[in-house]
Amino acid sequence: MPYQFDQKAVVITGAAGGIGSELAQQLAAKGCRVGLVSRREDRLRTLCEQISAAGGEAVYALANVDERDQVVAAIDTVRQRLGRIDMLISNAGVGDPDVIQPFATEKFERLMRVNWFGLIYSIEAVLPEMLERGDGYLVAVSSLRAYRGLPGFAGYGASKAAVNTFMEGLRVDLSDHGIHVTTLCPGFVQTAMTEGKDFPKPWMMQPDDAARRMVAAIARQRKVHNFPWQLNVMTRLGQVMPDWVIRRMAPRDRAAN
Ligand SMILES: NC(=O)c1ccc[n+]([C@@H]2O[C@H](COP(=O)([O-])OP(=O)(O)OC[C@H]3O[C@@H](n4cnc5c(N)ncnc54)[C@H](OP(=O)(O)O)[C@@H]3O)[C@@H](O)[C@H]2O)c1
Repeated sequence: MPYQFDQKAVVITGAAGGIGSELAQQLAAKGCRVGLVSRREDRLRTLCEQISAAGGEAVYALANVDERDQVVAAIDTVRQRLGRIDMLISNAGVGDPDVIQPFATEKFERLMRVNWFGLIYSIEAVLPEMLERGDGYLVAVSSLRAYRGLPGFAGYGASKAAVNTFMEGLRVDLSDHGIHVTTLCPGFVQTAMTEGKDFPKPWMMQPDDAARRMVAAIARQRKVHNFPWQLNVMTRLGQVMPDWVIRRMAPRDRAAN
């Protein structure tokens, strides 16, 4: 039976732009009451106004997701205003490319803090309520990059591999508690993260298209959804490709997705 979106209270991190903003609008159009969490207040306020003008319900709270206290406080604010949290979509992310010479540890720390700890802090903020109720839905926006370490994207890929592995384990742990877990792994999406990056982005999707596919996967309560299928096939082949092939295919300009 498909997931019933109507009247569900959904908190979405990284809602100020790109995929997160599209997810918020599409879920609100399906009857969800959405709580938007990000850093840029002007964007969040405008998005709330747009959703309200379209007949939906949206509230926002500010947080840098790599700050545990901020995430917990922001999601508490959303909970107070929406009454409960039925679903978390942990979408906030950064896609900084690797800097190897000189080796920029702080870049790798930031990738892990936002992409991985941001997920952990968000789950911390919603899970007790879901466990108590015996009902809830956790969704993580990961990436096809999770499946193979690539030159220039080692840090980003590692952060998303951590997300995938964690959600995979959590899924089994929480299945006895009425809590569903979905991991969404898109390929290239045209957002600020990929904007102006001059390298091939095969089968690139528009953010509204990517969000539609994500909402459909959530409706079907997929465990993992890798898309588009063409890039998923290429990614699977990439897992068994020798390094020399990967080296030839590696882009000169580096940016993650
Ligand atoms: N674009 C792609 O090709 C692609 C492909 C695969 C996966 N993804 C994943 O999809 C997700 C969304 O990415 P996108 O493409 O929509 O990128 P985007 O347009 O750059 O949006 C990123 C969102 O994350 C928020 N964010 C970033 N750092 C944050 C922080 N420290 N605290 C709170 N919010 C933060 C941003 O809002 P604020 O700046 O207001 O905080 C923004 O709303 C990410 O997890 C990304 O890894 C993207």
